[in-house]
Amino acid sequence: MYEDEKRNSAMEALKYVHSNMKLGLGTGSTTKYFIDGLGELVKSGKITNITGVPTSLRTADLAQSYGIKIENNLEGIEIDFDGADEFDGNGNLIKGGGGALVREKIVAYNSRDVYIMADHSKFSERLHSFPLPVEILPFMENVTKKNIEKLGCDATFRDGKKFKSDNGNYILDCRFNFTDVTLEDKIKMIPGVVEVGIFHKITTKIFIGENNGCKIMNVKKS
Ligand code: A5P
Repeated sequence: MYEDEKRNSAMEALKYVHSNMKLGLGTGSTTKYFIDGLGELVKSGKITNITGVPTSLRTADLAQSYGIKIENNLEGIEIDFDGADEFDGNGNLIKGGGGALVREKIVAYNSRDVYIMADHSKFSERLHSFPLPVEILPFMENVTKKNIEKLGCDATFRDGKKFKSDNGNYILDCRFNFTDVTLEDKIKMIPGVVEVGIFHKITTKIFIGENNGCKIMNVKKS
């Protein structure tokens, strides 16, 4: 769905890449358009000396298939390019629909700038439509789930526990009426929680794809 919008947002973001850069490489279908585009530029020699820090094993495989150099070293990442499941007008995000939220947050946090690419349907005035992904340890996981539910949500194990993240953990999809950003700290306080898919004060720009182009939202850092 919205494939043209995803592609347009990725192609606009790609304009910010030039030779000799170190980039964070996100995960998901929108980021795939970005990596495919970057890969073609690298393969044709139009852009050289790119290093990518991947946020998932599948992103690492995709980047390497184009000959993009991959490094698990966070130092000196200029721009992290990633997608989002939902964003609001303040640049807050819900992420983790692809189960890569832990590595995505580590890479985003350690990048100078974070550019998010998304189709227009991901925008909400208040974050509420996408169930909040939370990664938890596979130890006493039912207790961790109950403790998260006490904060006012229904939580389900992704694919009935069949889904495990690249880190070997479970993902809970948590349905709150409204995902207030203060929930990030509250959920992280619960033992067994590894990471929460709320990305707050981390985004620099959001590329919002349209049918025939792309709008850019600059996020004010407060
Ligand atoms: C991966 O865990 C997610 O955070 C993705 O970035 C997010 O799900 C966006 O994916 P799409 O670009 O496929 O919508």
